[in-house]
Amino acid sequence: MKTKILMVCLGNICRSPLAEGILTSMIDPEKVMVASAGTGGWHVGSQPDPRSIEVANKNNIDITHQRGKQFSTYDYEIYDHIFVMDASNYNDVIKLSKTDTERAKVSMILDELFPGEKVDVPDPYYGGDSGFDNVYDMLYSACEKIVSRLAL
Ligand code: 4NP
Repeated sequence: MKTKILMVCLGNICRSPLAEGILTSMIDPEKVMVASAGTGGWHVGSQPDPRSIEVANKNNIDITHQRGKQFSTYDYEIYDHIFVMDASNYNDVIKLSKTDTERAKVSMILDELFPGEKVDVPDPYYGGDSGFDNVYDMLYSACEKIVSRLAL
């Protein structure tokens, strides 16, 4: 059975598509499936934000094939681990859970680097390009930890 991992942010066009692309670049697709979704539905069917595509490209990761999806309760059945980008995403995803087993799948991705500190990946949507570089670096380090901790 493949380990299935879902990255979640608000719009599914900036942070979680990058997280999906970065983790995908680190795993064996025969063993691990990585996807992403947004808690909001505004960008369903859209390509990632051009600034996320650009920072991924600079790091030799292609995320242009990704399309926006909205998180749903069904995702709790599909995925083994659900990594959210910030506390607001965490609350939105937990609201849709029904059981403790589902809730145990959800964690803030920067808990990988700063356990228990509830650090947010800042939303770069309204900022400049440097915000995207910063987000890339944070997500890269967090994904390295995920790969080692889960032995992916
Ligand atoms: P993301 O950023 O959650 O990292 O994809 C956002 C993208 C779009 C919006 C909000 C956040 N929006 O309101 O459209």
